[in-house]
Amino acid sequence: MANILISGASSGIGAALARSYATPQAHLTLWGRNFARLEAVAEDCRARGSQVTTNCFDLADLKVLIAALAEADQHAPTDIAIFNAGLGGSLPHEAIAQDAVIAAAMAMVNFTAPVVAANDIAVRMGARGAGHIVLIGSIAGLFALPMAPTYSGSKAGLMMFAEALRARVKRHGVSVTLVSPGFIDTPMSQSLSEPRPFLISADQAAAIINKKVARGARHIIVPWPFAIIAAIAGLVPKALVRAVLSRY
Ligand SMILES: NC(=O)c1ccc[n+]([C@@H]2O[C@H](COP(=O)([O-])OP(=O)(O)OC[C@H]3O[C@@H](n4cnc5c(N)ncnc54)[C@H](OP(=O)(O)O)[C@@H]3O)[C@@H](O)[C@H]2O)c1
Repeated sequence: MANILISGASSGIGAALARSYATPQAHLTLWGRNFARLEAVAEDCRARGSQVTTNCFDLADLKVLIAALAEADQHAPTDIAIFNAGLGGSLPHEAIAQDAVIAAAMAMVNFTAPVVAANDIAVRMGARGAGHIVLIGSIAGLFALPMAPTYSGSKAGLMMFAEALRARVKRHGVSVTLVSPGFIDTPMSQSLSEPRPFLISADQAAAIINKKVARGARHIIVPWPFAIIAAIAGLVPKALVRAVLSRY
């Protein structure tokens, strides 16, 4: 039996990941805030033969987060922990910068909460000598996006954390995968006013992530055209990348 924990499982990519991992050989721990949507996803997973435990809480409450992680891991030692929950959105053109309260929430859900949770579960997994941590970042973490500085910065921080944590916990038998999605058709990206090039469905993204996590990938960029864009952007002068982004 594989024990898989997924945060943000009540919507979008997290819900699709839950369904993709739902087999009779899996016990899923699904986290979200919206009870009705989380239970609907849990029911789908149970119908596929999985045992499912749900927990509704706000990740911004770090004490509750740490307690939830301890409870989940004591109930069923976590094999794969997918910290997926996130808060997105780009700034309207007329705004100078992000509203401070929204910036705080974004930094908390996109960076602080997954960093706290990943450290906590890494200690538990490391003591057992096995486990896989998956952090859902964003292609926005690879580029300094003027239309979403807080989002971009929170995901860039997560990317650096994933890289450093991977190097740290490897010797304890723990793997770390960073996932950097481009545009995936979920409520988060549907709320954007910008175009969504190379858009794929959440189910398509989940199938790719599931397969590549099983292979132990270090960094998954999905869909693939964004991997090519990221590689090209790494080769051209940074001033050119900045000029293109400021026009977008
Ligand atoms: N969609 C894209 O194009 C795209 C691109 C790049 C990266 N990503 C990343 O992929 C991940 C999933 O995004 P998505 O597109 O699937 O978004 P989504 O459909 O809006 O789902 C976001 C999930 O995060 C949960 N969440 C948000 N704030 C929370 C909080 N304070 N406490 C607990 N849970 C919270 C939501 O729970 P409730 O709904 O129950 O509140 C929901 O389950 C995010 O990390 C996002 O940054 C998405």
